[in-house]
Amino acid sequence: MGKYYITTPIYYVNDEPHIGHAYTTIAADVLARYKRHRGLQVLFSTGTDEHAQKVRQAAEKKGLAPQDYVDQLAASWKKVFSFLEVEFDDFIRTSEPRHKKVVQEFVSRLYASGDIYKGYYEGWYCFWDEAFFPESEVQERKCPDCSRELQWMKEENYFFRLSKYTQPLLEHFLANPKFVEPEIRYNEMLNILKSGLRDISISRSTITWGVPLPFDAQHVVYVWVDALLNYITVAGWLDNREKFTLFWPADVHLVGKEINRFHSIIWPAMLMAAGLPLPKKVFAHGFWTKEGQKISKSLGNVIDPLKVVQDLTQYTGNERVSVDVFRYFILREVPFGADGDFKDASLELRYSADLANDLGNLLNRSLPLIEKNFAGSIPEGRPDPVLGKEAERTVALVEEHMGDLAFSEALNSIWAFLGTLNKYLDERAPWRLAKEGKTEELGDSLFNVAEGLRFSALLISPFMPTTAQLFWESLGLDGEVKKAIWDRELVWGKLAPGLRISKKPPIFPRPGKENP
Ligand code: MSP
Repeated sequence: MGKYYITTPIYYVNDEPHIGHAYTTIAADVLARYKRHRGLQVLFSTGTDEHAQKVRQAAEKKGLAPQDYVDQLAASWKKVFSFLEVEFDDFIRTSEPRHKKVVQEFVSRLYASGDIYKGYYEGWYCFWDEAFFPESEVQERKCPDCSRELQWMKEENYFFRLSKYTQPLLEHFLANPKFVEPEIRYNEMLNILKSGLRDISISRSTITWGVPLPFDAQHVVYVWVDALLNYITVAGWLDNREKFTLFWPADVHLVGKEINRFHSIIWPAMLMAAGLPLPKKVFAHGFWTKEGQKISKSLGNVIDPLKVVQDLTQYTGNERVSVDVFRYFILREVPFGADGDFKDASLELRYSADLANDLGNLLNRSLPLIEKNFAGSIPEGRPDPVLGKEAERTVALVEEHMGDLAFSEALNSIWAFLGTLNKYLDERAPWRLAKEGKTEELGDSLFNVAEGLRFSALLISPFMPTTAQLFWESLGLDGEVKKAIWDRELVWGKLAPGLRISKKPPIFPRPGKENP
């Protein structure tokens, strides 16, 4: 059995989870679920980055000790992800003892090998982004990233010899053109490498909220170094050799494009310094805007996934189904890797056209035909070879696209298949066959439609777990669809005649029709 280790960034715990965080995490969840369907042993991790200064400052404002504050917040982040049907295998928090141990051991090794050394740092520093910015990028003391005021910082620091890894990294990039995706992000990183790297400061002596350097307790480890190491903590670097051997290197780190450099340059260099294998891939996706505008707290246009789900539930009447609609929308609407714009009108359109119509209606019009003509049992039927070929082709396409992390293309292929099934139903017109008393053809057509529905349930399962399960149960199938192994199940004609269907209210009622 193969393995698959997938990670999301660990999020700054003081922020409220918004669409950006949900996006990366849901994408990772979809991929994890897909890999489980393919029979792989999956390790999927997400978590919270807790040693940032903004976290400490926020705790102070609330009059709480930082640890108490992060304990509360981490719990609420976990809850939000679970609400969104994210089935992570590990939720790492950087304030956990297992992680602190890893951070200290890692920096000790680099210090011992000479890749960490003591020096002075002076420059413009953004407390919010926890980063120094070169003079050349700074205008009017404003942070080039978040526009907040910069501080001139001078402090004794420990440095990591990042410069030493310029050449090895360049070689790695050239030998692995898919190390960073999409290509535009690879090229950006390659250009940075070509212009040469400078050593970076990896400790802070002015703050205390963080992991102390084991060889100089006056300093704490720079929050980014601390955070990146979460990926090996999860894999069991120090305490579980067997797990680490199995899961490391990670198969993919999913990140937003703004933190690509940390993952594609600094992190691999750190790993090289420690003699550890590099992750197989870093995928840096694009950014969401809202109705064409940058999302920001000050503009007041932050998209809260919980609110989107709540609003959708007015239509669906089922919160779990609404979560599926949200998951579907964010992955279908925009090719993964590109920037995307969240428009309410697009969400409504996708709901009514793709979900209520193409998907929901296929089930709604098929089941009553089985009920009426075959007393609610899946009829005997000959598997249709043309439809079967189409189904197999769809599976191959979905697998190819999922292999490329092309979620929206995978969904396009599934929806093309739904189109074929709807057309098949229209053309066979079982209602007519029934009238004409053509029982054998009637059985054939409804058997094949039901088989198509079974395939659809399996294919949408990573994206829309609740809907897939409702489809599964409607067809009278047992167990949990999320546990089905595709290679065993996606065999055209496998559906067993005689299963008792179970009709349910429409999953995606049309606004104003089924559901007032
Ligand atoms: N704590 C660091 C990451 C450390 S990983 C070792 C951090 N945290 S964050 O809370 O700011 O989360 C950043 C991530 O949130 C992005 O990389 C991306 O995954 C997601 N997004 C935040 N805003 C986003 C959008 N507007 N659109 C899409 N994703 C965005 O950086």
